[in-house]
Amino acid sequence: MFVPYMRASASRVERFNAAHRLHNPNWSDEKNASFFGLCNNENYHGHNYRLIVKVTGEVDPESGYLLDLKLLKDIIRSEVTQRFDHKNLNLDVPDFKGLNPTAENIAYVAWHRIRKQLDNKLVLHITLYETERNFIEYDGQ
Ligand code: NI
Repeated sequence: MFVPYMRASASRVERFNAAHRLHNPNWSDEKNASFFGLCNNENYHGHNYRLIVKVTGEVDPESGYLLDLKLLKDIIRSEVTQRFDHKNLNLDVPDFKGLNPTAENIAYVAWHRIRKQLDNKLVLHITLYETERNFIEYDGQ
């Protein structure tokens, strides 16, 4: 059987553990503490992040692949998880110099890092879980 055209999505889950502190230097300490709550803790705290990277596009009829998931794994690891894992995002990761490491901003950085390495024909959508219950979705807009 020959499949002439097929569009599909492939996803890969990766995890990393990192510390952060959410803080806006333009706000008073009181405002930071009340707005960011526990995530404003002065001495940082950690999260077990789960990153789901979803790629959508046309399946190559010759190979039957949308993309090689080994390649996607390598991209996510080299661009995101190896840079963030067991790091203090505020202090150790240059991407967050002057950028508050909220889940939204981590998703933004991860999306753009992965996007650079992917074929332009592929659509990229990522989901970042900061806790079991809270997650951010981002597709580059
Ligand atoms: Ni936090």
